[in-house]
Amino acid sequence: MPPTLDLPFVRHHFPALSGDWTFLDNAGGSQILKPVVDRITEFLYESNVQLGASYAVSQLATERVAAGAMAMATLINAADPAEVILGPSTSALLRMLAQCVRPTLQPGDEIIVTNADHEANISPWMELQREGMVLKTWRVNAVTLELELADLAALLTPRTRLVAVTHTSNVLGSIHPVRAIADLVHAHGALLCVDGVAFAPHRRVDVQALDVDFYTFSLYKVYGPHLALLYGKKERLLALPGYNHYFIEDTAIPYKFQPGGSSYELSYSLTAIPEYFEALAQHHGSPRDADPIDQAFALIQQHEGDLNQRLLSFLHSRPRVRIIGRQTADPAERVSTISFVVEGLSSDQIPPQLDAHRIGIRYGHFYALRLIEDLGLLPNQGVVRVSLVHYNTIAECDRLIEQLAELF
Ligand SMILES: Cc1ncc(COP(=O)(O)O)c(C=O)c1O
Repeated sequence: MPPTLDLPFVRHHFPALSGDWTFLDNAGGSQILKPVVDRITEFLYESNVQLGASYAVSQLATERVAAGAMAMATLINAADPAEVILGPSTSALLRMLAQCVRPTLQPGDEIIVTNADHEANISPWMELQREGMVLKTWRVNAVTLELELADLAALLTPRTRLVAVTHTSNVLGSIHPVRAIADLVHAHGALLCVDGVAFAPHRRVDVQALDVDFYTFSLYKVYGPHLALLYGKKERLLALPGYNHYFIEDTAIPYKFQPGGSSYELSYSLTAIPEYFEALAQHHGSPRDADPIDQAFALIQQHEGDLNQRLLSFLHSRPRVRIIGRQTADPAERVSTISFVVEGLSSDQIPPQLDAHRIGIRYGHFYALRLIEDLGLLPNQGVVRVSLVHYNTIAECDRLIEQLAELF
């Protein structure tokens, strides 16, 4: 078992946590690491010039931006930093990807989306119906709240070209077996595009182990700045048409997918994210031969298991509560994004009651509108969602529980 996470050490890295707010809406956006902010400033004060010129400051800026992409390749264990595309948001990157995939498809080709995804990984694919592609939906079992692999198998045909699925639903919190999904999808000759936004703040993303073709998440939810990342397997990116000027070569990855480049200062600031996880591993005495990022996420997983246990035991003990997602606290099965509804209360009645106690949670459909509709939860104003991350403490969880206990 990994050692217990040293919360004062963790929290010391996040200046925003020194105030009196309890931030439990982290699936919306996490707090930012101080070294990330420091590097934004450093870039702007020391190297705020255009990349690629011969003079020293431009060379420094070029190196710094490249180091950001390299850091992201390390974070997700990509084989090559050229496989990492940076962009403003996951929503924008997936729209761009769908536009680049479009000319590689023929009318009648099939695409599978789920009803458990955030809309970012649904509508860019659904809109390809206008070009004659056939869309199918892999639906969550309304009783078990699971995406069943057998249901996907039944949808795959020789015409399937791409499957778009979430690694973890931002409502249900369940961790889907992406490697098994990838094997099934690849056995049918199709590509897999995974939305990892609700997963990446909680567990290690290892794109090689997952064997995904495309994988995306938002860095502003992984303790970084407002940027997002799209990983693509090198041979897939090379085979796609680009999204940039006509004279940008087809071999220029990732640049052919980054019109105008990505924000320089924010890209450079990304270097501080893997460094933080490495520092976490080192602080907790992780073995030298182990991958420090894997080690850091093992510590995080264990702590999240404790947070899950605390909150879910409380929710299970309240007869009016229905947990919308996996019932288990096991951090191998779910992340600490926990949604629920309360009999006799509309979801919009709950979070505002906590505002005065300086506890931030929220309610709604979280842009997973199709899921909330299919589960019949829209008239109830969606779900109440508490999304904890590793910097949250058991004491914060107890503060929340104390207030919730007053309400139901
Ligand atoms: C699961 C999931 N996917 C995609 C997105 C969209 O991310 P972005 O805001 O970077 O477009 C979100 C945002 O909340 C999300 O939770």
